[in-house]
Amino acid sequence: MVSPRPARVAVLGASLRKQSFNVRLAALAARMAATHGAEVRTVGFGDLTVPPLDTDALETDGVPEGARRFGDLLTETDGFIIAAPEYNYSVSGVLKNLIDWTSRIRPWPFTGRNGLLLSASTGAVGGVRGLWALRVPLEGLGAHVYPDMFPLAYAETALTADDDLADSALRERLDRLVGAFVDLTRTHALRRNV
Ligand SMILES: Cc1cc2nc3c(=O)[nH]c(=O)nc-3n(C[C@H](O)[C@H](O)[C@H](O)COP(=O)(O)O)c2cc1C
Repeated sequence: MVSPRPARVAVLGASLRKQSFNVRLAALAARMAATHGAEVRTVGFGDLTVPPLDTDALETDGVPEGARRFGDLLTETDGFIIAAPEYNYSVSGVLKNLIDWTSRIRPWPFTGRNGLLLSASTGAVGGVRGLWALRVPLEGLGAHVYPDMFPLAYAETALTADDDLADSALRERLDRLVGAFVDLTRTHALRRNV
């Protein structure tokens, strides 16, 4: 049985760089998710800017607007796709800082949400080590992170000028992954009865 409504999926390319490969990969995943029937909401990482986490500031001023916006987006959707760069074999500090701020919201906006993790990197490994690091806080905060992940190596040549994948087999793999994720997210939304 499938949900009577489409899966609502938030898509974030987690880099502030103007020509970011991760933002471009996120745009491709968003198009694929829409093709698979998802209602897609993309968000710019620049709209989720937060200061370095300071629990004194949390006590006086509360959760900053960028994290509240991210929390609202997660709460209003069933799942999220994040394309995130790998920095020094791990998750970028900017994204981790946003997750830390967002974790101060109650109830946790990540809980029960499905998540799919992608990365684009200029290196040969594609950023998969960063994705393993990113899984940890997301799963700790109650997200169901999809077992399979998608690291894209040598992103300068792997992505075409119109933000597609040059290698058709790789494109097919991403499309199948996004399709399976959208189907699972829709099923979970039905189970949560929302
Ligand atoms: C501080 C820093 C650390 C990096 N560390 C890694 C790394 O560990 N592994 C990797 O594959 N690329 C690493 N890179 C290169 C990134 O893959 C590259 O900058 C990529 O373009 C970042 O994604 P973006 O284009 O979405 O901003 C690093 C880049 C920076 C700035």
